[in-house]
Amino acid sequence: MKSRKILVTTALPYANGALHLGHILEHVQSDIWVRFQRLRGHECYSVCADDAHGTPIMLRAQQENISPEQLIETMWHRHKADFDGFEISFDNYYSTHSTENREYAEKIYKAVRAAGHIDRRVIKHAYDEEAGMFLPDRFIKGECPKCGTADQYGDNCESCGATYSPVDLKNAVSAISGTTPVERESEHYFFKLGDFEAFLLQFLRSGAVQTEILNKQMEWFESEQGLADWDVSRDAPYWGFKIPDTEDKYFYVWLDAPIGYLASFKNLCEREGIDFDAYLRADSTAEMHHFIGKDIAYFHTLFWPALLKGSGMRVPSGVHCHGFLSVNGAKMSKSRGTFIQAESYLRHLNPEWLRYYFASKLSDGIDDIDLNLEDFIQRVNSDLVGKVVNIASRCAGFINKRFEHTLAQELPDPVLYQELADAADEIAALYEQRRYNQAMRAIMALADRANQYVDEQKPWVLIKDAARQAEVQGICTQGINMFRAIITYLKPVVPQLAADAEVFLNAGELHWSSAQTPLLGSQVVKFKALMTRAEQKMVDAMLVDNQQAMPAAQDAAAAATGPLADDPLSETIQYDEFAKLDLRVVKIIKAEHVDGAAKLLQLTLDLGGEQRNVFAGIKSAYDPTELVGRMTVMVANLAPRKMRFGVSEGMVLAAGPGGEDLFILAPDAGALPGMRVK
Ligand code: 2FM
Ligand code: ZN
Repeated sequence: MKSRKILVTTALPYANGALHLGHILEHVQSDIWVRFQRLRGHECYSVCADDAHGTPIMLRAQQENISPEQLIETMWHRHKADFDGFEISFDNYYSTHSTENREYAEKIYKAVRAAGHIDRRVIKHAYDEEAGMFLPDRFIKGECPKCGTADQYGDNCESCGATYSPVDLKNAVSAISGTTPVERESEHYFFKLGDFEAFLLQFLRSGAVQTEILNKQMEWFESEQGLADWDVSRDAPYWGFKIPDTEDKYFYVWLDAPIGYLASFKNLCEREGIDFDAYLRADSTAEMHHFIGKDIAYFHTLFWPALLKGSGMRVPSGVHCHGFLSVNGAKMSKSRGTFIQAESYLRHLNPEWLRYYFASKLSDGIDDIDLNLEDFIQRVNSDLVGKVVNIASRCAGFINKRFEHTLAQELPDPVLYQELADAADEIAALYEQRRYNQAMRAIMALADRANQYVDEQKPWVLIKDAARQAEVQGICTQGINMFRAIITYLKPVVPQLAADAEVFLNAGELHWSSAQTPLLGSQVVKFKALMTRAEQKMVDAMLVDNQQAMPAAQDAAAAATGPLADDPLSETIQYDEFAKLDLRVVKIIKAEHVDGAAKLLQLTLDLGGEQRNVFAGIKSAYDPTELVGRMTVMVANLAPRKMRFGVSEGMVLAAGPGGEDLFILAPDAGALPGMRVK
């Protein structure tokens, strides 16, 4: 097999929010592919970075009273820790705010400018006079010019789907200052995408993109406006790279973001002596693959290939889009408690469970993927623990205890073993095509076959017959070898499980071809349990912890992908939303610890006649006895929420950073239980 040179990238997460399981889905998809390629003996590098520029990051740093550099530094560490936790094997995790990225952004820009693909013209844009800055569309809200729905973003209406320019919004306000934006003129720089029409048609039809994406992008070519020029400049103040030969124009974040792939790779090449040009020059025979979500296909299948082409570099071999992640059948939602942060998952659950679950669902299409938490537990336990690990645990004990850890010299059923060895090509083809769901099904069918063999042979019965000991050694050797083939095929998905199995098998690292030659006559080591079962209570604890750990303002930031990132308006609400809150003075008439809950107290609240049961995350600050008899304030019309310990019928208001510094709000003397808080 000829060795391939492959560069793989995943979308760069914005440096203004924590990672959630939607991000993890993509990086797991790509990591499985990368690990598979390496297992096959190919040279495969995987790079990523934080997407560190743009208005939301600038504003967030201002809000937090820190510099953008400090913000992106902190986020980088959090993101990196999450990726490490999920065993994402990047060769480099970098930042778009780097010298390499500045260098390549300037180089690519100058190359396309020299070739005549940059235009300059004056446009009108919404300007916030109080904040002293031009407003990105997403920072303007108003009424839809078509259907009149309030609170719509500057470029499209969520209610009727109309798209428009922010200047058309009625009663528009700036999300930054709350003032009415004015129109102001400014000169902008445009990348002439239309110059690349013929190339892009050929690129899109070359097989580099999925059919669904090809069809979607064809709409642009067929639309009246055609391939519109792309505005690649932003006016100061902006957090990004200054455009060469300008005073105060900056590259739009989406220009330098994909260039960040190259910058991260360049940084790796310098460090490890890899030939960057061998991968990136126009006639390179290496491959370059981008894994992304379908929401950013536009940038990756039109602008990005055109920029690369226009600057004389190679174009992507593949842009692979996946669908969105839903949880329990619905969009991830903070109020439903299903907006799961990567950090929360990692505090409670084994990352390989999720890697396997995602693999069992991922195809080469762009359909959304649902993480159903009950199905997740069931699938992991039934497949990984019940099928795969079970084969080894049923056979290892006999080999360890009765045969001095030694495998038999030959297999009793070589024909059956050959069936597993022969599956290698089909499974490899499925991995290669990113049809992991089918690959997992094929592998589990082999695990079923192996378990069936052990069931039929019944080594636990034969072992009692002194005359049939050698047979038992053979059966268990057969079982362990079938386990070894299966683990080899699963290695890209569950690398830690595979590493632990390698220790047990005691014969070095598994490669894709390992399954072709069984282990015979060698010694294994003492078998240790390879994987524990997933339990409902772990998932419940993760959800409770996730809900408590997520600061409200982080929700929008973490939720955001694409241009929605960190919507500042989500941190303010309209008066009518506030008016919906039924806030009441209440008296705490009972307070108790909750068995098994690290942070919760169970409170019985008197609302002046009516009583409510509420679980409040204030255990770190209060001894229950000191709460009884005190007055506080609750949200009385919050929908009841079923928790592991019972139903919580509202929420008590508290303030403070957390831990011991958490204070329940107390009304003034004279307030009586049941009174409305206004
Ligand atoms: O959508 C996003 O989250 C962007 N930060 C992805 C950028 S991918 C690449 F182009 F850099
Ligand atoms: Zn509308």
